[in-house]
Amino acid sequence: MSDILLQLNNVTKSFADGNGTQTVLDDISLAVKAGEFVAIVGPSGSGKSTLLSIAGLLLSPDSGDVIIGGNTMLNSKSNIRTAFRRKHIGFIFQTHQLLPYLKTKDQLLLFQDKEYNDSVTANDLLEDLGILECANKYPANMSGGERQRVAIARAFINDPDIILADEPTASLDATRGRYVVELIRNQTKKRGKAALMVTHDERVLDLTDRVLHLTDGKLRSM
Ligand SMILES: Nc1ncnc2c1ncn2[C@@H]1O[C@H](COP(=O)(O)OP(=O)(O)O)[C@@H](O)[C@H]1O
Ligand SMILES: [Mg+2]
Repeated sequence: MSDILLQLNNVTKSFADGNGTQTVLDDISLAVKAGEFVAIVGPSGSGKSTLLSIAGLLLSPDSGDVIIGGNTMLNSKSNIRTAFRRKHIGFIFQTHQLLPYLKTKDQLLLFQDKEYNDSVTANDLLEDLGILECANKYPANMSGGERQRVAIARAFINDPDIILADEPTASLDATRGRYVVELIRNQTKKRGKAALMVTHDERVLDLTDRVLHLTDGKLRSM
C-alpha cells in the first residue's frame, strides 16, 4: 500500500463560455501523501475551486482519474459517490457553513457517521481545536474564528482520508486566519490526513509543506 491518499491523474476540465470552451484544468496530475499539507495558489478564476471540487467528487472531470485512498472514483454512480464522499472527504469552506439553529456538538453529530464514533470523538476534536467551551453554543454566539474551528472539527469528524479547504481564512483577520491554518496543519499531521488548501493568503504559505501554482490550466511547483 502506498501512502498517497489523494491522486489526480491527467485531469482535464473545460466549461462552455460565450463562443466556445474554456479549458480550466489542462492535464493536471497531483499526489498528496498521508500527513502532507499542500497549498494551491493562483489568480482569481484560474480554476482552484474547480480543482478542489473535482478532488472532492463534487464535480466530474472531462477526462482523467481521481483516486482517493486507493479507490478510483471516476465511473461510480452518484449515490455511491455521495456515501464515499461523506466517509472519506472532509471539506472546509470559505465561510463556516454551520447551521444557525444547531449547537456546536449537534453540528458535529449531524455529520458524524456512526461507524466512526469510536475512532474520533467530537470531544477530542473540540479539545484539540480549543473550542470545548463552545460545545453548547450556537454559531451566533461564537466569534468568526471559533466558527471556523467548528467547521474544521466537522471536516475531521469521520476520520476522512483527505481534507479539502477552499480559502478557509477568507472571512478572518490575519491573526485568526493564521491560527486556523495552524490548526488545519496540526490536525493533518496528528491524524495522518492528506490536505489540499486553496488560498489567496501568502502569509500562511509557510505553514504548508508544498505550494503549487495554478495558472493557464497548469499546475506548477514553486
Ligand atoms: N459551472 C461552471 N460553468 C461555467 N464556467 C464555470 C463553472 N465553474 C467555474 N467556471 C469558470 O471556470 C473558471 C475557474 O473558476 P474557479 O474554479 O471558480 O476559479 P478560482 O476558484 O480559481 O477563482 C472561471 O472562469 C469560471 O468562470
Ligand atoms: Mg475559488
